[in-house]
Amino acid sequence: MSSHDTAVVTDDALAVLFTNAHTARSFRDEPAPVEQVRRAYDNARWAPTALNSQPLRLDLLASPESRQRLVPLMAGMNQDSVLSAPLALIVSADIALEKSMRALGAPEEMLQRLAGSMEMRQGLARDSALIQLGYLVLALRAEGLDVGVMTGADLPGIDAEFHADRPWQTIAVVCVGHGDESAFHPRSPRHDFDDVSQVL
Ligand SMILES: Cc1cc2nc3c(=O)[nH]c(=O)nc-3n(C[C@H](O)[C@H](O)[C@H](O)COP(=O)(O)O)c2cc1C
Repeated sequence: MSSHDTAVVTDDALAVLFTNAHTARSFRDEPAPVEQVRRAYDNARWAPTALNSQPLRLDLLASPESRQRLVPLMAGMNQDSVLSAPLALIVSADIALEKSMRALGAPEEMLQRLAGSMEMRQGLARDSALIQLGYLVLALRAEGLDVGVMTGADLPGIDAEFHADRPWQTIAVVCVGHGDESAFHPRSPRHDFDDVSQVL
């Protein structure tokens, strides 16, 4: 059998990350330690971003009081998820990302171009923060955590409540914990490879 016939990671690992993992919408009364999110981030940060810009920023709402501030800013159908989760993350894009990119080795010329164009900063920050959100979801699953990504929320309202002092634009809220029996909806179908691709 050639090396192309098998995945490098085991089917069990793929099940944890993809095939058996579901969006969780309600959670058991069991903690989701901040240390696990730190470890997940420490893994996910190695995945690629445009210009190595790494614009993802996180608020970890670890206290019930902090999650209470978030609840009224969530769409009605998402409020119970935040209420039941032991941890909620506000995932944001830093639109002043050029300030942190010098330490990441970005060339001075690129930093100047970014500093001069809000449109460029916003495009770069949002695109790469979204891809980092995807990496983080998988890294959290690798920790054995269940997650529910939600964009049904007043995202500018979340910025006003949590980011008045910093240039972070919220892109999603992620509930993190251990799903209870009613956490998961039945699996919806997925497109087949042949329906979404052309080999040229
Ligand atoms: C960017 C994004 C936004 C989402 N927003 C919501 C949301 O606001 N509320 C919700 O209940 N689920 C939300 N979801 C969850 C999706 O509906 C869910 O991942 C999809 O239906 C697949 O479900 P499964 O993971 O159980 O197979 C969101 C997922 C993503 C990736």
